[in-house]
Amino acid sequence: MFLRAGDYAGLRPAKYQLVKKTRCCMRQALCRTEDSEGNPELRSAGGIGEDAAVGLTLVDHPLAQHLLTSLRDSKTPPPVFRTLTKRLTLALVLEAVRGLPTKEVSVDGPLEDSQGILIDADLVAVPILRAGLGMLEAVTELFPEVAVGYIGLERDEASLEPQSYYRKLPPVRGRHVLVLDPMLATGGSGSAATAAVKEGNPSSIAFVCVVAAPEGIRKMEADHPDVPIFTAAIDRQLNERGYIVPGLGDFGDRLFGTE
Ligand code: PRP
Ligand code: URA
Repeated sequence: MFLRAGDYAGLRPAKYQLVKKTRCCMRQALCRTEDSEGNPELRSAGGIGEDAAVGLTLVDHPLAQHLLTSLRDSKTPPPVFRTLTKRLTLALVLEAVRGLPTKEVSVDGPLEDSQGILIDADLVAVPILRAGLGMLEAVTELFPEVAVGYIGLERDEASLEPQSYYRKLPPVRGRHVLVLDPMLATGGSGSAATAAVKEGNPSSIAFVCVVAAPEGIRKMEADHPDVPIFTAAIDRQLNERGYIVPGLGDFGDRLFGTE
């Protein structure tokens, strides 16, 4: 039996254990199966380009958690916030691209030849404006050849529904797409952006965020069960204004100093 994201929405003790377990494992899907005795079981998540089971990966590397902790601090000013976001995104993306296709090659070394591996995939990064821009430079540094598309979405403050104001995507057919948005709150923006990317028939999509709320995970899992999510944190819930708590506030404002 598959467990649904809703099972950990309230962080009830039994299910919370699953999240905690996940924290101990660098790369585990959130418990989608039960073993033969009916006990919940963790299973590896699939990364971008990978055929394995998709799921949610909590990147619990101590450095990632260190960076996240500093991002949460309300005293962190925008210039530092931008640097920390980029560094944390490097850690998240390393996990998200783990499953990309590779090829074996021979290398002419200075002393002798050796066999090596090269990533053999055409990558596209799609930051969701504005806040996703803070994650883009990490990807362009890791993958200088990456193509970049943009999706502009802004949540309506009352309905919390994403309003689309910009879209410029390169061809994504047969390519591997990383959708970047630091906050997965209600999941409306993430889901809409993922749907927009899917129109172009990519080979795979991975959603990379900094903090995810149970509500957003549930929405993504319902709308896009084929898209793995990579996050540094699963926070408790949304507040009455649709902000993630504890979260880190309005990410875009903190990134661009527009508070
Ligand atoms: C934030 C964030 C996500 C969205 C998440 O953007 O960057 O895109 O909210 O919320 P959701 O999961 O409920 O859709 P916002 O709309 O504040 O725009 P901004 O990035 O321009 O600040
Ligand atoms: N957008 C943000 O920037 N922060 C939240 O907590 C939720 C949506």
